[in-house]
Amino acid sequence: MSIAVLLPAAGRGERLGSGVVKALREVGGEPLLLHAVRGVRAVPAVGPIVVLAPVGLVNDLAVLLASYDVVVTAGGEQRQDSVRQGLAVLPGAVDLVLVHDAARALAPVALFEAVIAALRAGAEAVVPVLPVADTVKRVADDRVVATVDRADLRAVQTPQGFVRSVLERAHALPGPPATDDAALVERLGRTVVTVPGSEEAFKVTRPFDLLVAQAVLAGRARGR
Ligand code: CTP
Ligand code: MG
Repeated sequence: MSIAVLLPAAGRGERLGSGVVKALREVGGEPLLLHAVRGVRAVPAVGPIVVLAPVGLVNDLAVLLASYDVVVTAGGEQRQDSVRQGLAVLPGAVDLVLVHDAARALAPVALFEAVIAALRAGAEAVVPVLPVADTVKRVADDRVVATVDRADLRAVQTPQGFVRSVLERAHALPGPPATDDAALVERLGRTVVTVPGSEEAFKVTRPFDLLVAQAVLAGRARGR
């Protein structure tokens, strides 16, 4: 089975601040996107990789990634639009698709392999999940309305894996935007299965996350 990875990297990184797009923010002396692509390329089962770039940076990112055998194409306004642009350029032979946030630049190879293994075992859609560590409350303005039982709540990561045709149908459905691809597959009424996530697959979202990424890289360099 041919497996492709779509790497949405077209966001602006507004919560990170600084005015530099998130894909090009450096950690350990290299852009986040380079870490992300290197991680995906280290997964032997992965074939084509499509990077969704901010409009206007397609050429810059293609130059940055020239030695990694990836396709770089323009993303869209919302993350969902970027994924759709990626689906549109996938080669015909691809039958499984992983969608992976470039911002989760340090996701370990073993996590990709767990998602791929679940697909190969017959799942149509797979998401890595972690238990929720904090107590979760529902609020209205600054007042607590309810405390949510967290026992059956999970925080969801990427890479998310899909049978290509299912993901394509999910993205073709009309409806409000979703914050992940699996939510679109849920709307189709298809089953989404979970695999254990990884703390190292955290999403670089705010400045603090860059410090964590730095620490993870330093740990890896020490061969931890
Ligand atoms: N993404 C994308 N296209 C968009 C928006 C987001 O490809 N139009 C990508 C981001 O580049 C990131 C992933 O989707 O790899 C998850 O998005 P997020 O963490 O929200 O990143 P940004 O949108 O860049 O950050 P922010 O929301 O703070 O601006
Ligand atoms: Mg965003």
